[in-house]
Order: sequence, then C-alpha cells, then structure tokens
Amino acid sequence: MTGALFGGTWTQEKLNILERYLDAYTTALKNRPFQLIYVDAFAGEGTYRAGSDYAEDYGDFQEVRDGSPRIALGVLDKPFDRLIFIEKDPARCESLTGLQEEFPNRNIEIRNIDSNDALPDFCDALGAYDRAVVFLDPFATQVSWDTVAKLAQTEKIDCWILFPLMAIARMMPTDREPTAELAGQLDRIFGGRNHWRDFYSEARQQQLPMFGAEPLQERHRGSGQIAVRYRQRLESVFTRVAATPRTFRNSRNSPMFELFFAAGNPVGAPIAVNIADHILNNW
Ligand SMILES: C[S@@+](CC[C@H](N)C(=O)[O-])C[C@H]1O[C@@H](n2cnc3c(N)ncnc32)[C@H](O)[C@@H]1O
Repeated sequence: MTGALFGGTWTQEKLNILERYLDAYTTALKNRPFQLIYVDAFAGEGTYRAGSDYAEDYGDFQEVRDGSPRIALGVLDKPFDRLIFIEKDPARCESLTGLQEEFPNRNIEIRNIDSNDALPDFCDALGAYDRAVVFLDPFATQVSWDTVAKLAQTEKIDCWILFPLMAIARMMPTDREPTAELAGQLDRIFGGRNHWRDFYSEARQQQLPMFGAEPLQERHRGSGQIAVRYRQRLESVFTRVAATPRTFRNSRNSPMFELFFAAGNPVGAPIAVNIADHILNNW
C-alpha cells in the first residue's frame, strides 16, 4: 500500500504552510545568483494518507496526498536547483527513489541515514552562493539541538521546525524530576541541562522527610512554557524567528506540535520572517 498514514487535518495545514513558503521563498530569490536547495530531513515516502483519531479504521479508503517531497518538487515558478531527501526508514527511502524516476530532469539526492548525522555534513559543504530551506518534520523527539544550532551557524538556511510539544511535556513529569534517561534525552533536545532544569523546583508539599533523601521536585511551568523556551533557544542561534505561533492540536484539543520558522541569513532573514509570519497569520 502506498502512502504512510499519519496526522490529522493539521498535517494538511502544515503542508499548506510549507508549500506557500517554498513558493514565496523561491520567487523572492528568483533573480539572485543563488543555488536554491530544499532539504527534507524527515522526508517520509513522498505521499501520505490523512489519518485522524477517528478515521484509522478506514485508513484503506483515505485519499493519498502529496507529502513534503512532492510539494517541494511542485514548486515551479523558480524550481529548486537541488533537492535532498533524508529518510532513516529503508522502505520509505525505497519509495522515494520513485521520485527520481518520475522526475528524471530534477537534481534529487536521497539519503537513507539519520538526519542528525547527514545535516552537519550538508552544512559543511555549503558554498558561498548556496541558500537552503530545511524542513524538520519528525514524528517525535528525533531532532537534536546540536543539529539545529549547526543549521543556524551556516547563516544560509531557513528552517521550518515541527517541535513535538506533547511528547516533550510527557518526558517532563509535573510531580517529580525526569528519570536519568529522560534527562539525557532532554539535554540532547534543548542543548544542555541548564536549558530545561529550571522548570523544576522543590515541591511545595513534601512527603514525610526521610533521612538523607533529596527534597521532592515538581515542574512548576506548563507545556506552553516549554514551547516558549524552545523558541528562545532558536532565537539564541538564528538571526530571526517568526513571532506568530502555530499550534497543532489533537481531537481532544491538546497541543501536540508547535511549528516554528527560523531564518539564518542576516540579510535575508527580515524578508523571510515577514513572509513566514504573513503565511502563519493568514492560513
Ligand atoms: C512525519 S514523517 C515525515 C512526513 C513527510 N515530511 C511528509 O510530509 O510526507 C517523519 C519521517 O521521519 C522519519 N525519521 C524518523 N527518525 C528519523 C531520523 N532520525 N532521520 C531521518 N528520518 C527519520 C520517519 O521514518 C518518517 O518517515
């Protein structure tokens, strides 16, 4: 069966935002001497079938829609000069190779590798006239902070980042500290313990004191503050970050993902962020 089943209606909303940005970005740079590169760092298989909490049983009848790689290939006013699709899953990668056959005149590279390993090399290889849009669209918490910081340092990359707010909030219990294993993962995601540990402080209600035991800790900030903190982390490395928030919610109206846009090039960032804000405000 073709087309992975994931996401609710917000998946289409996310892809509409991406499509509008890619169109506007390539048109804005149309007459400039840059090589324009699109990097889909969590590329999937090219198409997807829209799912939802209610519709999974009917998955076979879901319409197959264009995923982000096809959307990037469909930008035609000024097509991308190079497209790089990174996908860790071998079967999905195999599906992506069909795009190379379908679009033989396009410069498409497909990499079956963890994007946290592929992206640093991509950044190091960028030339003076290269400009890129990188789409970070994970299911969960796969994006490491070091990868994001490396993208920003190039000053040649604009980035859409789907931040897995619900998954991260679950890794940060409200009534106790994260386990050592989760703490290590949070360090990787935020780029160090000092960027999340201050969400915890001594619990107001302590249980009966046990000799030598550490005081109980609790998280005193909600998940909205976790998203605010990640935005601040992005602002610390990118030239500008779009101010307009876009939160994707599940059918129970709980926030699942936050979509961020960050621009790295000091000259282009104000225009890029204006375009992104305009799209986020209007669609
Ligand atoms: C939400 S899907 C991507 C959907 C795609 N952007 C689209 O619009 O069709 C996330 C994809 O990331 C892949 N993935 C998970 N971890 C990865 C990693 N560390 N590096 C690269 N790909 C990864 C998964 O196999 C999955 O196909």
